[in-house]
Amino acid sequence: MQKLSKIAVLTSGGDAPGMNPCIRAVVRTALYNGLQVVGVRQGYQGLIDNNMYDMNNRSVSNILNLGGTILKTARCLPFRTEEGMELAYKNLKARGIDGLVVIGGDGTFTGALRFSKKFPDIAVIGVPGTIDNDLYGSTYTLGFDTATNTVIEAIDKIRDTADAHDRLFFIEVMGRDSGAIALRAGISCGAEAILLPEKETAIEELIVSLKAGHYNKKSSSIVIVAEGDKHGGVYDIAKAVEKEVKNYDIKVTILGHLQRGGSPSSFDRILGSRLGFAAVNAMIAGKTQQMVGLQANNIVLTSLEEALNQHEFKLEEDLMQMMEILSI
Ligand code: F6P
Repeated sequence: MQKLSKIAVLTSGGDAPGMNPCIRAVVRTALYNGLQVVGVRQGYQGLIDNNMYDMNNRSVSNILNLGGTILKTARCLPFRTEEGMELAYKNLKARGIDGLVVIGGDGTFTGALRFSKKFPDIAVIGVPGTIDNDLYGSTYTLGFDTATNTVIEAIDKIRDTADAHDRLFFIEVMGRDSGAIALRAGISCGAEAILLPEKETAIEELIVSLKAGHYNKKSSSIVIVAEGDKHGGVYDIAKAVEKEVKNYDIKVTILGHLQRGGSPSSFDRILGSRLGFAAVNAMIAGKTQQMVGLQANNIVLTSLEEALNQHEFKLEEDLMQMMEILSI
């Protein structure tokens, strides 16, 4: 592989707090090593539309504390087509770009890997950025910590009013296929039950435990439902429970996109900085088609192929056990 001279960076898929610190680290690490850097706006769409700009150290000033992504993001269908990828390649080559750092989740990595297999002369390194924390190869993804803290703050507030009225709340949190936010937030807030896509919970069992909670003098109850839970929507679950549990007034709250915004936590600022730094260094070392991740507090490379095909991403066993017994 010839020596790297110019790299591009983009964010794609759902935004996540921590993306900005990561962009900053990519830009400054690259410039420090004598590389030129181009920012791509709106993810893969920007590659297709040639919507890119040269970045310098000042392009990333004062962004550590910002949620969202200064590069903007998109879920780009045209990049899935051969024509879309060819256009993107043509635009990158015309600018003399020989490396691409993509920050995003599994959809982003799927696109990056296909592109890189088709055009291997452009090195590609992925950085795991999604609040869902569902990528194999990194214990944590960018944005997960901040989003979980946001959820905890919201649920603590709901607990106040739930308790004041002796109510049962069903709260839906994000996580398309993942219960990571639900599990951590649920344990942190003492939720009476947590419904996760990773674990089947029979509605009958939920009803029995909520009734038992009331019998045991609980004045309020909170059930957290991950959006990817197999029972369907939170309203359907609440309706099914309402038929059987008569002692509580039942309310439903969907936290929605507020979970994605906000200033990144200390953890996400450091993680974004570490992963951005590592992504550029990996590329300089000649790596491609890899994801940088965090394992046992060390930076580890995993091939994009493995990160995408290995579905053994599991929630922590001890947390799963705890959720059954700590909220009695
Ligand atoms: O992947 C992150 C995520 O926030 C998921 O938890 C959620 O299902 C999805 O994105 C929502 O995507 P959008 O903002 O495109 O509706």
